[in-house]
Amino acid sequence: MIVSTLDITHISCAPFQDQRPGTAGLRKKVSVFSQPHYLECFVQAIFDTLKLPDGSRLVIGGDGRYHNYDAIQTIIRIAAANGIREVIVGQNGLLSTPAASLVIRKYSAAAGFILTASHNPGGPDGDFGLKFNTPTGGQATEQVTEAVFRASQQLSGYRIASLAATDLNRIGVTDLCGIHVEVIDPTAAYATLMQTLFDFRAIRAWLKAGHRIRFDAMHGVTGPYAHRIFVDLLGCPPDSVLRGEPLPDFGGLHPDPNPIDAAELVAESLRPDSADLLAASDGDGDRNMILGPDFFLSPGDSVAMMLASLPLLPGYRGGVPGAARSMPTSRALDVVAAELGIPCYETPTGWRFFCNLLEAGLIGLCGEESFGTSSAHVREKDGLWAVLVWINLLAAQNRSLKEIASEHWRHYGRHHFQRQDYFTADTAAANALVKALRDTLPGLSGKKIGSAQIETADDFHYHDPVDGSESAHQGIRLVFNNGARIVYRLSGTGTSGATLRVYLEHHVRDQATIDQASAKVLQPLGRLAAELARISHFTGLDAPTGQI
Ligand code: G1P
Ligand code: ZN
Repeated sequence: MIVSTLDITHISCAPFQDQRPGTAGLRKKVSVFSQPHYLECFVQAIFDTLKLPDGSRLVIGGDGRYHNYDAIQTIIRIAAANGIREVIVGQNGLLSTPAASLVIRKYSAAAGFILTASHNPGGPDGDFGLKFNTPTGGQATEQVTEAVFRASQQLSGYRIASLAATDLNRIGVTDLCGIHVEVIDPTAAYATLMQTLFDFRAIRAWLKAGHRIRFDAMHGVTGPYAHRIFVDLLGCPPDSVLRGEPLPDFGGLHPDPNPIDAAELVAESLRPDSADLLAASDGDGDRNMILGPDFFLSPGDSVAMMLASLPLLPGYRGGVPGAARSMPTSRALDVVAAELGIPCYETPTGWRFFCNLLEAGLIGLCGEESFGTSSAHVREKDGLWAVLVWINLLAAQNRSLKEIASEHWRHYGRHHFQRQDYFTADTAAANALVKALRDTLPGLSGKKIGSAQIETADDFHYHDPVDGSESAHQGIRLVFNNGARIVYRLSGTGTSGATLRVYLEHHVRDQATIDQASAKVLQPLGRLAAELARISHFTGLDAPTGQI
């Protein structure tokens, strides 16, 4: 037997000052991430902060974007030099974000590294990203990511082991100088879990009866998962999956499942021969967009309608103890939770804020307006899970998506919702806008505007009921007494400039307004939002640069 010892080198270098993780990990241009020592230092800062016991097990996987493969090799070498002795990695370096969360839990790993910039464009000129998750499968908390940031600013170098490159293409186990590396099928555990949550037999019968689905993987990581679940296990024809091959640059697309970036799917839904359910997921598989024939299901409605129908799904027959939404997400969920008599928590933007609630068993369903929904089955949002929820609900009710939504709105009223984005290259101007708006809050509270009055004007401050931590400045809320609400916050996922997000919502109960298009209902509120924040004054923008 050849026993080779680990050859570890300490490399000295100056620390980087810009490694502060945002809403979901550290995201930078590929050119930034691939500069000498950059990734290495960030990974070292994580190990310095986490202080994992020697011999720990680590899960690594990513969305397959450009630089994924090389970055995994680097991470394995740094991990080995920092005491990791077991690495579980997805074949070809792939693991969707929700599958990574599941694998971390299943293998009782000490941590997980997920290489993704989610829906941001990929390729040599695109974005790269890295987030790390804890043994619960959830993302590290803000306190931990801030500690990593501080550590990154003080590093004097990193430790790296000389290891041969791992062959990520072949499933199996290798021993690299005492480091146990296991390459796993990224879809296996995930596909098994889905079969316990949903009624695959009922779905197969529904499909056999002539119903059809179309799933757009947008050349992200979900292609192999969708083939396994929809084609192999549910018997859908292979052309039910569009753009199913993961590509390093996502085929030049912006892999974001929204009506603009997945416009082709929207066009299909408007054709007379549309499938019964059309859905898309993003680069790393945690987002979902749901469409039916001539119908777009807004994410805030989706999670609310899921809550109302959960007992129809085998994995959720007993309902859930509570639900949660991110603060800017429409309050449609609150209305359903109130009727069910269960709590509905309001958390800051970013999935990690749900994790404590899920882990403590306080909630069993949660969602964000940004096309993210999930349950307690993992600690990340889950695109394919959401698609399966809807396929199962359609199969169980034998009604169209539009019919289910209309009935829901008749009962609960409709929360018209829209997010408007204002991108500016001038980060200082965006910060000045937010500061000025914050300063006007005391005067806005109680202010009459037309026939409505602002009931609450505040800067959202979150107190985590599980660990008692506080998160301040999580977005400015203007809540009106007529069911309307405006929320402002700056995006935390961009890699340059600043994006002001303005979230508009109006809860209406009369059928005529329910039936109107959300864009029309929310037009006056959008104008008011721009005026109150003096968006044009600060940014020079007279209209949103993007709108969902
Ligand atoms: C955006 C979304 C947020 C989501 C995050 C990661 O963050 O708004 O809901 O959790 O992406 O997918 P933002 O850019 O707004 O900070
Ligand atoms: Zn994502």
